[in-house]
Amino acid sequence: MASLQINGKSMNVDAPGDTPLLWVLRDHLGLTGTKFGCGGAHCGACTIHLDGTPVRGCQTPLSAALGKKITTIEGIGTTRVGKAVQNAWLAIGVPQCGYCQAGQIMSAAALLASNPKPSDAEIDGAMSGNLCRCGTYTRIRSAIKVAAGIKEA
Ligand code: FES
Ligand code: FES
Repeated sequence: MASLQINGKSMNVDAPGDTPLLWVLRDHLGLTGTKFGCGGAHCGACTIHLDGTPVRGCQTPLSAALGKKITTIEGIGTTRVGKAVQNAWLAIGVPQCGYCQAGQIMSAAALLASNPKPSDAEIDGAMSGNLCRCGTYTRIRSAIKVAAGIKEA
């Protein structure tokens, strides 16, 4: 039995240490906001934070999260930056189908937590691992700038 810190709560999981966190979150704990896209570190749909750093849940084993703070899309809105990102996403109306958006928001929140006023190149660099089949990239960049206070919604 492993004890994990997820969104400020302790949660116990009965799973082998090499189980990917994406499976732990979705299948063991019912936290289905984090999405499965490719399972191979190509799409970013499974992005979560470990101690504030964005990681791919499909590639990160449960054992790597022991003693660390896990944040998922279900908890990111409780942080100041995460709330600002979510509000900007709503103001701009970013999502189309929505499938990639949890991962997009997690990457955007991690970017702004470490770099409050990113340049276009820094935004592109931080978001380059998050794919969107619907092509919402322009709105994602706008929403990040709104969340950063660089532009109006
Ligand atoms: S599902 Fe993890 S990167 Fe695509
Ligand atoms: S909004 Fe549909 S995949 Fe991004």
